[in-house]
Amino acid sequence: MGNKITNNIFSVGVLNPALRVFDVVMRTEFGTSYNSYIIKGCEKTALVEVCHASFFEYYLDNIKEVCDPAEIDYIVLNHCEPDHSGALRKMLELCPKAKVVVSRAGSIYLKGITNLTDFRVVIAKDGDIIDLGERELKFISAPFLHWPDSMFTWCEQEKALFSCDFFGCHYCEPNLFDIHMTYDKSYEKELKNYFDGIFGPFLSYVRAGLEKIADLDIKINLNSHGPVLTKNGKLPYVMKMYKQWSMLKQSDTKKIPIFYCSAYGNTGKIANALRGGVKSVLSDAEVKIYDINEYDIAFLSSELMQSDAFMIGSPTINADAVPPVWVLLSHVDAINIKKRPAFVFGSFGWSGEAVPNIITRLENLKVKVFGEGFKVNFVPTDEDLEKAEQQGKEFAQMLIKE
Ligand code: FEO
Repeated sequence: MGNKITNNIFSVGVLNPALRVFDVVMRTEFGTSYNSYIIKGCEKTALVEVCHASFFEYYLDNIKEVCDPAEIDYIVLNHCEPDHSGALRKMLELCPKAKVVVSRAGSIYLKGITNLTDFRVVIAKDGDIIDLGERELKFISAPFLHWPDSMFTWCEQEKALFSCDFFGCHYCEPNLFDIHMTYDKSYEKELKNYFDGIFGPFLSYVRAGLEKIADLDIKINLNSHGPVLTKNGKLPYVMKMYKQWSMLKQSDTKKIPIFYCSAYGNTGKIANALRGGVKSVLSDAEVKIYDINEYDIAFLSSELMQSDAFMIGSPTINADAVPPVWVLLSHVDAINIKKRPAFVFGSFGWSGEAVPNIITRLENLKVKVFGEGFKVNFVPTDEDLEKAEQQGKEFAQMLIKE
């Protein structure tokens, strides 16, 4: 349904409460929404963000409740990922006079996303303004929030910020406004998951983005997923949490988690011996051991990403590491894991491919793998465990020298 937000701004987006996985990798327990807005000046009309291609018919109905698509003068895409641009090609067929407003990086992506070259593009640079008549749209460059093309759009007259994914949340309730939210705790949980998944790799850019909008008196934040945020509702909370979550770790204590799976307890014994070795050198270090099967994978990947170094172990089953280990490694942030020191270990029965296979994966992620790892055939002897402890010591000593 097209919803009036102010006299000049209308919501025309689509709710998708049934979605359970976004972009293949993000679980969405509470669905999502593809928010989109129309802002009307006294002379021109702009559509801000488009929609996922799968929902075009619903989306078009919403737009038609607000205006004839042929009246749209500008289509602003603050970010070109297909959840916001997938329906652009179809929209352009209905908006013959519309110019697409994007950042320079966005203009490059749009060609591949639409497979069109004959539409009109306005490249919005930082600080550029488009006048709609009594309503102006000012563009604020916001690179890597979370793509290189990302930008915000600010309407001073409405005190409205269109922030696209920034401040968004994969969370869907029937009402679009934060002040009508029913399940606050569920929203807050998903807000953190969303932040970690989308912005975790780009914390310095989050801080830069917050700085850029710090002086704006935002009354309403028109994000593109989840509830719209208001000054008297959730917006102060969301901004505070973004600031907190994007801060750098301020502790001198080294954090060296050990992750493992163990079929018969043997890889677990090695994990304990490694921990002893690390603690004998770095007595103040936080060295927690996690049986991967016992914890939520989002929690473990967060622990891994916040570590100074980590260890990971797996038995060998069917000539490979076991699936939970691969699941954890598939959740790491490949941008920020580079050069992180790591150690790999595991017990094996026949051939012991788990350790070298994990090492190969980590090296592909540009992780700094220590040595050739540590493997034990079947049950570790006391001598094996002493060797493991020694490996832990050497790993810790390497960390001191870094
Ligand atoms: Fe909601 Fe990055 O797209």
